[in-house]
Amino acid sequence: MIDKLRAWARRHTEQNRYSPVGVVFHWVMAFMVLFQLGWGWYTSWIPPGGDKLYAYEVHSAVGLPIMLLAVGRLVWRIIIPGPENDADTQGIQTQIAYAFHYVFYVCFFGLPLSGWVMWSSVAEPGPLYLAGLVPWPQIPFDQLQLTTRWIVMDVAEDVHHLLVLALLITVPLHVAAALKHHFWDRHDVLRGMLPDIPDDPEASPHRPREPRLPAGSGGG
Ligand code: HEM
Ligand code: HEM
Repeated sequence: MIDKLRAWARRHTEQNRYSPVGVVFHWVMAFMVLFQLGWGWYTSWIPPGGDKLYAYEVHSAVGLPIMLLAVGRLVWRIIIPGPENDADTQGIQTQIAYAFHYVFYVCFFGLPLSGWVMWSSVAEPGPLYLAGLVPWPQIPFDQLQLTTRWIVMDVAEDVHHLLVLALLITVPLHVAAALKHHFWDRHDVLRGMLPDIPDDPEASPHRPREPRLPAGSGGG
């Protein structure tokens, strides 16, 4: 099964592209993380009350699936190696790009986990729902003393803020590097992360071309 998946993915990675699964993971999660950064920031400005609580419920409902998607993405990434592209030979720049990818994976897990801990440690947390639909349990911190719960809340909040800061530094650099490689260096790295939609289906690399018939042979 894994060998078949690898063989399928190789058809894409051999052309310096991420597989369609890798591409979908990237863009769905990139959109969700960017939404979370904006929504979390917006929520922090709402005065305490029902609207703020509702905004945090939305924040949690979108944030928790990121953790589950990250499990799937990590497994996929371990089974299916990424493509080799022009940007993989840039020495220290390449190492920094890889380090950023690790930071992103830490954030995919660390942000939802610290959010979940914060949510579970406040005095009377509301219910949590995955994507607003599937009930998600609280961590049973109600067994702990109130002061311990405040300490847990404090630490989790610091971790959450630290990881948000890490994303605020790394994401703009990641995006700027992707655009620089594409428009300045003319590297194939961004193309490899975009969906492979040929303008002309006949020109698809996965579809062998029909041999052209000589003029006048009835081929039109
Ligand atoms: C990748 C996922 C996530 C991102 C990028 C993210 C981002 C943010 C941001 C930008 C803030 C505002 C920080 C501030 O200025 O105060 C915030 C606050 C918060 N987030 Fe998240 N978050 C994520 C996941 C979650 C999840 C899954 C939960 C809950 C289950 C959660 C719970 C909270 C809470 C309770 C706060 C308020 C913390 C405070 O007191 O400032 N977050 N988050
Ligand atoms: C919105 C603009 C974005 C652009 C143009 C972009 C572009 C790219 C490109 C071209 C790659 C391939 C790099 C390589 O193979 O060396 C990549 C990889 C990656 N990007 Fe982004 N990205 C964006 C946003 C994000 C966001 C918001 C995140 C999450 C925080 C993210 C997380 C990742 C990760 C983890 C990888 C490594 C591939 C993997 O392990 O699945 N990207 N991105």
